Amino acid sequence: MKKIITRITELMSAAFVACGYDAGYGTVTVSNRPDLCQYQCNGAMAAAKQYRKAPIAIANEVVAALGEQEMFASCVAVPPGFINITLCDRYLAGYVLDMGSAEKFGVEPAEKKQTVVIDYGGANVAKPLHVGHLRPAIIGEAIKNILRYRGHEVIGDAHLGDWGLPIGLIITELKRRQPGLPYFDPDYTGEYPKEAPFTVAELEEIYPFASQYSKQEGHEEYKEAARKAILDLQKGNRGYHALWEHIMTVSMLDLQKNYDSLNIHFDLWKKESDAQPYIPAMIEEMKAGGYTRISEGALVVDVKEETDTKEVPPCMILKSDGATLYNTTDLATIVERMKLFDPDRIIYVVDKRQDLYFDQIFRCAHKTKLVKPETDLVFIGFGTMNGRDGKPFKTRDGGVMRLETLVGNIREEVLAKMAERDMPEEEKQKIATTVGLAALKYGDLSNQASKDYIFDIERFTSFEGNTGPYILYTMVRIKSILAKLGELPAAATIAGDRERGAEETNLLLTLARFAEMIEKAEAELAPHRVCQYLYELADNFNGFYHANKIVSEPDEGKRNEWITVLQIVLAILTDGISMLAMEAPDRM
Ligand code: ARG
Repeated sequence: MKKIITRITELMSAAFVACGYDAGYGTVTVSNRPDLCQYQCNGAMAAAKQYRKAPIAIANEVVAALGEQEMFASCVAVPPGFINITLCDRYLAGYVLDMGSAEKFGVEPAEKKQTVVIDYGGANVAKPLHVGHLRPAIIGEAIKNILRYRGHEVIGDAHLGDWGLPIGLIITELKRRQPGLPYFDPDYTGEYPKEAPFTVAELEEIYPFASQYSKQEGHEEYKEAARKAILDLQKGNRGYHALWEHIMTVSMLDLQKNYDSLNIHFDLWKKESDAQPYIPAMIEEMKAGGYTRISEGALVVDVKEETDTKEVPPCMILKSDGATLYNTTDLATIVERMKLFDPDRIIYVVDKRQDLYFDQIFRCAHKTKLVKPETDLVFIGFGTMNGRDGKPFKTRDGGVMRLETLVGNIREEVLAKMAERDMPEEEKQKIATTVGLAALKYGDLSNQASKDYIFDIERFTSFEGNTGPYILYTMVRIKSILAKLGELPAAATIAGDRERGAEETNLLLTLARFAEMIEKAEAELAPHRVCQYLYELADNFNGFYHANKIVSEPDEGKRNEWITVLQIVLAILTDGISMLAMEAPDRM
């Protein structure tokens, strides 16, 4: 469906042209004075300069040329030269009813369908998911769904960290604890045990221990051993490789279970190690292309540009000891993705502190032609989730909070709010989980991704205000109204002329802007746009609900129209929350 704003712009442009002005001046925007009008055109102000005429004279001419329009309730020129537009209610209602029967409520597929890879997991094996993994998962999943809504082919990749120093540390620590294991015997040629020599719980204890231990004074040798272990692993040490496979199996299952419970679904569970086979040829080509140089023994690619205002260091490809690093893996992953999917775009949802790093990687990938000139590499850097003290969120004793714990806490908070509700305990638990997750996700997504935000459990779980539970509560309310009505009438058509109240008009106007919002959210890769919209829609619905008696309305035509509008509100809220990977219960 053509967007309303496009329809008005077309009318307006035609009127400018009819009066002898450039069509471009007919651009219409949403009004920034909703108390005066719904849409506005400021073209006459701009045209005044080009045509050396008073803006109000131009605005008057254009409005006269427009004449009576079925779409408009009013279209007036106001000094110094604005054109203020208010739509006719009846037109608006007709548009909304048409949306109800259109695919995706009139949201058109993107003009050019893209293949997009989105890298938004970044969890590391052998480490439990902690709050730091929450943001990429939630933001990435939402962006993936927004792009899909517009018809793009999107591949979500977990890109698990399984190849760096942490693995070296685990191997070193295991060797210290159990030196007799066959994995550490260089002369061992037999098959290694099928069972891992640790459980997931042990693994989660081993890594933080080893990491701490390696940083303590006098443990330089230990740290060196860990570095050596990772290098040996990279060079193909059999025993280490077998151990690494155990680490992978044990911890992947746990990670998958955890992401699943968050309702986050990756299409691909690739790991950093999957890109390793692409490294040798990639490096050869970089060398052959003359892109590399040796700097203090290390192999680097210069990526600074003349226009830089900040220092952009060279991108290191190989360390002086020949070891590959985080950079090398990310570049090889780009090679792999180009080969497997030939994407138009690769989007990374990663902590914004890796901003400069990705700048280097993207420049290096373009310069060394790992990607096509037109391949779009996008970094979406997210801010930190802070505690009420404004510092990065921690447990009470200052540790890193596991994601499971955080999700558990928020569920408890919702349960406490539902204490008075009369329903079976089991159902209550289930609802609290659904609502708690929505509270958490909405609390995060409603902020612009790049901003830090404060995790405020009290506010996030409130059933009122700009929160996830408020949106869900509104949906539950609509479901219960529809249930009360029993059999629903067939979708309404506009019957007769009638006055619509301000609340009804506001609701219709917000509904009619759905496609506009989706296009904006897509263009900006901004889930917070969806949140903003859902809140406005829910709020406008509640305003409408309080101003009208829907169920007992005696005028059948009016009642049917309202019921259809209600169904559309519910359906759009449903699509909206599922874009944000949230679900709504039937009651709460
Ligand atoms: N595993 C990394 C970390 O914990 C994040 C990975 C982000 N994605 C990427 N392609 N580098 O910092």
